Amino acid sequence: MKKVVIVGACGHMGRVIADIVSGREDCTVIAGIDKAGGGAAFPIYPGFDSLTEKPDVIIDFSHPSVLDSMLAYCLTNGVPVVIATTGYSQEQVEQIHKAAEQIPVFFTFNMSLGINLMAELAKKAVAVLGGQFDIEIVEKHHNQKLDAPSGTAIMLADVINKSLDKPCTYVYDRHSVRAKRSKDEIGIHSIRGGTIVGEHEIIFAGRDEVVTLKHEAHSKSVFAVGAVNAAVFLCGKPAGLYAMSDMLADK
Ligand SMILES: NC(=O)c1ccc[n+]([C@@H]2O[C@H](COP(=O)([O-])OP(=O)(O)OC[C@H]3O[C@@H](n4cnc5c(N)ncnc54)[C@H](O)[C@@H]3O)[C@@H](O)[C@H]2O)c1
Repeated sequence: MKKVVIVGACGHMGRVIADIVSGREDCTVIAGIDKAGGGAAFPIYPGFDSLTEKPDVIIDFSHPSVLDSMLAYCLTNGVPVVIATTGYSQEQVEQIHKAAEQIPVFFTFNMSLGINLMAELAKKAVAVLGGQFDIEIVEKHHNQKLDAPSGTAIMLADVINKSLDKPCTYVYDRHSVRAKRSKDEIGIHSIRGGTIVGEHEIIFAGRDEVVTLKHEAHSKSVFAVGAVNAAVFLCGKPAGLYAMSDMLADK
């Protein structure tokens, strides 16, 4: 039975994670970290200093401001961590990579199997369509989401960019520049509204034809199931940076 601490335990994702874990027999939640506090079947602490028992693994769906204290705790205590929070700066991403030299870190902007399949399909599309087609990414999320574009949209753009012979620049906003679209860019567009859980479209627009890859998440459970699977997978692994592709290869 793996002992789990949920960071961001009182948030939307934290509560879904607790629900998924409660239905499993291979793991249990021993505590949560959240500045909000209360309302859970396990103790919620405001910070890592208050943790009384060392977990086997931490699952984080919180806020970039938690990263410093969380990594400090994990590094000091040798605790593996699944980091699902989005909106990190480039420096923070580097900090995560550096921590992974000493502890196991599972880090992905999207925990769903479908999105990770979409990333693989996008690589194939780039191999076939290459620089011939204009590539635009559109992401849609609920009106409570803090960061834009979504971490997943950036992840998809990065996957595409690495597969192109000549890397493109990302263009987030077209209203300020009156100029034709260049071939050397990937457009990334964000829509916020209502309760949309998460939609991502990659549009490959060519001359007289358009290929679209689309993924829709209909509930937060798709991310929670992936994160809990990742946490169990991470226990006992050597230090390193892990992603969904490692977990799939392990099956
Ligand atoms: N990687 C994925 O697959 C995936 C999927 C869904 C959401 N996310 C990301 O997970 C994060 C959380 O999403 P959510 O919808 O649950 O958000 P949320 O706002 O509902 O929950 C975040 C929780 O973190 C807590 N928190 C914030 N700052 C804190 C701090 N400094 N110390 C302690 N607790 C703090 C808040 O009190 C809140 O309860 C976001 O970054 C979101 O983009 C990632």
